[in-house]
Amino acid sequence: MFPTHRPRRLRTSETLRRMVAETVVTTNDLIYPLFAVPGEGVANEVKSMPGVYQLSIDKIVEEAKQVYDLGIPAIILFGIPAEKDTDATGAWHDCGIVQKATEAVKKAVPDLVVAVDTCLCEYTSHGHCGYLETGDLSGRVLNDPTLELLKKTAIAQANAGADIIAPSGMMDGFVKSIREALDAAKFQDIPILSYAAKYASAYYGPFRDAAESTPQFGDRRTYQMDPANGREAIKEIVLDIAEGADMLMVKPALAYMDIIWRVKEASNLPVAAYNVSGEYSMVKAAALNGWIDEQRVVMETMTSFKRSGADLILTYHAKDVARWLKG
Ligand code: PBG
Ligand code: ZN
Repeated sequence: MFPTHRPRRLRTSETLRRMVAETVVTTNDLIYPLFAVPGEGVANEVKSMPGVYQLSIDKIVEEAKQVYDLGIPAIILFGIPAEKDTDATGAWHDCGIVQKATEAVKKAVPDLVVAVDTCLCEYTSHGHCGYLETGDLSGRVLNDPTLELLKKTAIAQANAGADIIAPSGMMDGFVKSIREALDAAKFQDIPILSYAAKYASAYYGPFRDAAESTPQFGDRRTYQMDPANGREAIKEIVLDIAEGADMLMVKPALAYMDIIWRVKEASNLPVAAYNVSGEYSMVKAAALNGWIDEQRVVMETMTSFKRSGADLILTYHAKDVARWLKG
């Protein structure tokens, strides 16, 4: 009797399909990014990211409460300082915008995990992720001087109450430098989520509108990875693991699911996928045009991140996903 094998048997009902589903997305998997700006009562929608806002700290606190009530365990904070300079002072100053936002959120919603992006690009006048030689317009960031500023930034963030330090600048040795600085300051229990495999990607475009962090000249290709390279991601994560990373991130996510898979196979650490701004904006634009079913597309994408090996998903869709999962 042909066919002898009938895989369709296990797809005959919703209930049966639910029983054999290999992958589940839960609200616990989500991390929601937020952008802090100076001021009070400020909520500026980011033009290229419908539904995403630059928020003043009072509004961030309101948002953090909502996020926590939806069951989302964590946020990640980015900051837009009032002033930028060549030393990225706003990144590491005790009164920096992210430090103040972290303090306010931890006070209002102590159980919400606050991760902080540890990088300089939002705070440098030139928009690069590190320190540049004075007058250098090549965008060739000086690695080791940048490490010193990143250490100061991580300590300021930890002092403010940050629960997870997430360095994103792709500087060589940044995990070890930050780990040692944290340990020396008695923050040995604060984990590092390393943006270990971060590619130089056009998908970051809308984020740079939101964070006002577009490089004023050059690009980030001397520090972020070449999209052509997969094996190199393993080189990066092996180093970060050796340097003391507690969790690893792959970024962007959608065009890099092979990398998520490889990183998952090559490590026993939790792997986070960053569903970046451009990925969000494409879905939003199509949905607003009525061209796709937003909920189904987003849930399919989240499921696929998990299937490819992600344990955690940083996504601007997090609140919607949490609501949809609640039904
Ligand atoms: C920079 C940084 C970027 C993102 C987070 N931190 C990218 C960049 O400008 O190079 C991108 C996030 C997104 O696109 O959603 N350190
Ligand atoms: Zn940066």
